[in-house]
Amino acid sequence: MTLARRDTVVRELMDDPDCDPERLRRTLRRFSTVNRLVSAWGIVYRHRLAPWLWGLGRPARVLDLGSGGGDVVLRLADLARNDGLAVHWVGADPDPRAHDVAAARARADVEFRCVDSAALLATGERFDAVVSNHVLHHLGDALPAFAADSLALSAGPVLHGDIVRSRGAYGLYAVGITPFAPGTFLRTDGLRSIRRSFTAAELQEALDPAAWTVESPAPFRLLAVGRGRA
Ligand SMILES: C[S@@+](CC[C@H](N)C(=O)[O-])C[C@H]1O[C@@H](n2cnc3c(N)ncnc32)[C@H](O)[C@@H]1O
Repeated sequence: MTLARRDTVVRELMDDPDCDPERLRRTLRRFSTVNRLVSAWGIVYRHRLAPWLWGLGRPARVLDLGSGGGDVVLRLADLARNDGLAVHWVGADPDPRAHDVAAARARADVEFRCVDSAALLATGERFDAVVSNHVLHHLGDALPAFAADSLALSAGPVLHGDIVRSRGAYGLYAVGITPFAPGTFLRTDGLRSIRRSFTAAELQEALDPAAWTVESPAPFRLLAVGRGRA
């Protein structure tokens, strides 16, 4: 196994529609802990999202595309609420298994829809900002359409966070995930995700350079930053 090139063939166990549903539910729930430790959304919220939301001077609507079990959008909602920001959050994911886990966590300021980016765009609904976590590496040929949908859905920033493919990320994840992995797909799928992930240069090349800038907001993290066109 080498990390020199992206592995676009390897599939995550949880993408198998016939995977063990209980193990899948445990995996989706435990992402709350894992994403908090690895995904750097606290930093991205503080430096990118919160200043924009404050600047609007009115209640905002923010979309998490590919929200999975919902933990990232719920964390962002907690951060905004603690800051006294009025935001309605929407998590959208077409996978009904992920949607079921997320929907059980819905609350007054966070709703979940079982829908993909294209279907949401077709409804005509638009948002003040769009975010995603760990979706880009997942997509394959659908990446350009997903990126374009996200720009069309947002009147403000579009922020796609992902892990970087590197030996460091792979080695640290392999060790660090050990206490959280039992009974879940976290170990195998996390390592497969890193094999599928981009380097900063690869992601910049995969996205329209006129629309996207790829940054590194924290060690082992990538952030594709775009400006919405809604
Ligand atoms: C690796 S999971 C990440 C889930 C979650 N964001 C997290 O960080 O745990 C990628 C998710 O993207 C969703 N997805 C794929 N294509 C999508 C699209 N076009 N619109 C919205 N979600 C999509 C998949 O269903 C999947 O749940």
